[in-house]
Amino acid sequence: MSKKPYYITTPIYYPSGNPHIGHCYTTVACDSIARYRRMQGYDVMFLTGTDEHGQKIEQKAAEKGVTPKEYVDEIVAIFKNLWSYMNISYDRYIRTTDDYHIKTVQTIFKALYDKGYIYKGEYKGKYCTPCESFWTESQLDENGKCPECHRDVVEAKEEAYFFKMSPFADRIEKLLTETDYLQPKTRAVELVNNFIKPGLEDLCVSRTSFKWGIPVTFDEGHVVYVWIDALSNYISALGYENDAYNEFDKFWPADVHMVAKDIMRFHAIIWPAMLMALELPLPKHLAVHGWITFNGQKMSKSLGNVVDPLVLGERYGADSIRYHILREMALGADSSFSNEIMINRINSDLANDLGNLVSRTVAMVLKYFDGTLPEEKQSDPMDEELITMAKSLRSIVDECIDNTTLNIALAEIFKVISRANKYIDETAPWALAKDEANKPRLAAVLYNLLESIRISTSLLSAFMPTTMPKVWEQIGATAEDVSYENADKFGVLPQNITVHKGDIIFPRIDVNKEIEELNELIRAQAEKAQAEADKDGANLEPLADIIGIDDFFKADLRIAEVKSCEKIPKAKKLLKLIVNDGFGERQVVSGIAKWYAPEDLIGKKIILVANLSPAKLCGVESNGMIVAASVGEDARVIFVDKDIPNGSRLS
Ligand code: ME8
Repeated sequence: MSKKPYYITTPIYYPSGNPHIGHCYTTVACDSIARYRRMQGYDVMFLTGTDEHGQKIEQKAAEKGVTPKEYVDEIVAIFKNLWSYMNISYDRYIRTTDDYHIKTVQTIFKALYDKGYIYKGEYKGKYCTPCESFWTESQLDENGKCPECHRDVVEAKEEAYFFKMSPFADRIEKLLTETDYLQPKTRAVELVNNFIKPGLEDLCVSRTSFKWGIPVTFDEGHVVYVWIDALSNYISALGYENDAYNEFDKFWPADVHMVAKDIMRFHAIIWPAMLMALELPLPKHLAVHGWITFNGQKMSKSLGNVVDPLVLGERYGADSIRYHILREMALGADSSFSNEIMINRINSDLANDLGNLVSRTVAMVLKYFDGTLPEEKQSDPMDEELITMAKSLRSIVDECIDNTTLNIALAEIFKVISRANKYIDETAPWALAKDEANKPRLAAVLYNLLESIRISTSLLSAFMPTTMPKVWEQIGATAEDVSYENADKFGVLPQNITVHKGDIIFPRIDVNKEIEELNELIRAQAEKAQAEADKDGANLEPLADIIGIDDFFKADLRIAEVKSCEKIPKAKKLLKLIVNDGFGERQVVSGIAKWYAPEDLIGKKIILVANLSPAKLCGVESNGMIVAASVGEDARVIFVDKDIPNGSRLS
């Protein structure tokens, strides 16, 4: 009988910097699902890759003095190395610079043009000349300037192609609200209210201001908008409109596209619209997860946490990292990452619960039966609860995989592991061992423990593929014993099973010592980064023209304390703060919401430009400006010592 096909994809990542623990999440989650589906007998296609075009890549390559292709090649190698280290079992890796993908994108663009869904028009917006970038009004910084370099922008227009989305609005709304395409479905409301109800705007799908993209075949100078290029990867990788592969009919439509919330809109609206225009079937599910946040921010390199998965993996093992991120992230919510929480979780779940269960059980079989259990066993009604729980685990995990609730799957597996540990306390094998007459009962207890370990670790192996085989070696289980088919049966291991002593699978970590070492690592990394930045002065904004001291004193810079802070619902980039400047309280609006959550600021002392004329940002009044440093593309607020009184003037 031929196997049922199953197609799962991660986003294709921008190789514009090294991968971090956030990228790892989606990839590890998809890998776990792919592995589970293979166990279930599906013929799986698991796709990941890199999204290599666009202005940002072009700029970064230019800064480094290399070609864009040279630049991405280097980072793609780092991504692939990480995936191999993390034991990611992808079946195909797509690069959008691959020839076959380029051919597909060009064919799709032309097909949409021929069908009348893509037309030529004029793109009007704000243009930053030094950055050669177009911005929409809402993308500008809080002062109405370029969000990249914070210099003036001008009104400009350029010829561009547009994709008509409105013909698909009704079908997309139904897809989001009436089908189970979106997981979790609760996200449909924000999409419908923010994008569909106000009227789906036509999307600008070509650019002429930079070159690093896929050329539009019928109009020289235009390159295809990077999202049209990127989204097409899901079908070009199967051979749609190219000769590299021939698996489109077998695997399309995809079973699951998994993405984080930042790119939900592209996958929930633009991608279905493209497929509808091409008259292709729609993917079955879009699973949207939250962000792994670091101190309330989506990501950053220097926020007091080691977030390089390779560094963490080397210290704790790839499976421990996989377990931690999968266990922490609930579908639909963000999960905040900290080294300390991770270490504590490794200790409590992996070293204590699972590791101890395995080592205690194996040690007892060795101690009381020289490693081989006798055939004769004596069961007891008290065994039933553990046996029933273990037998029903597989169907619970199946359901979690269907719903992409991987954290719940892991929680359920660990419930069985905890129950088995409790069973050891209830049955007290060490007491049974004192009397020879109890040996059949003791053998039954240890057998039940081995079976519970077999079932839970066979299901766990999809999530932690490197370490589970080590457990199986210790409990004497064969590949057949730990198959998916046997995961809902109790009594699979031979009655006279022989166990083997092995190494400790998850050694306990000394939390304090470890945190100290990690902090040392962070300090060393920060110093190295600083040294590189110093060496690399070319990346810094040029120094401004010389001014006299009188000019400097025109700016009244004061120490102020943030009393309260909140998000502004309609302006994603802005935070509204009430600060005490020593004279009283005032309201300031600042464009730092991308980097700071309100709770990161409340109670802190900052530097305020106190004599700026009041301005309205997105309709909210701002009286002053908070001083922040531009670090690459990030803004870092300057916090000052709590002891400096409010209102002190900088001079
Ligand atoms: O958006 N927490 O690429 P990208 C959780 N090329 N997930 C995170 C994360 C975090 N802190 N940071 C990144 C792009 N991710 C486009 C995609 S698809 C056709 C094109 C994960 O490199 C998450 O899956 O910015 C997110 O959706 C993806 O990386 C974005 O990666």
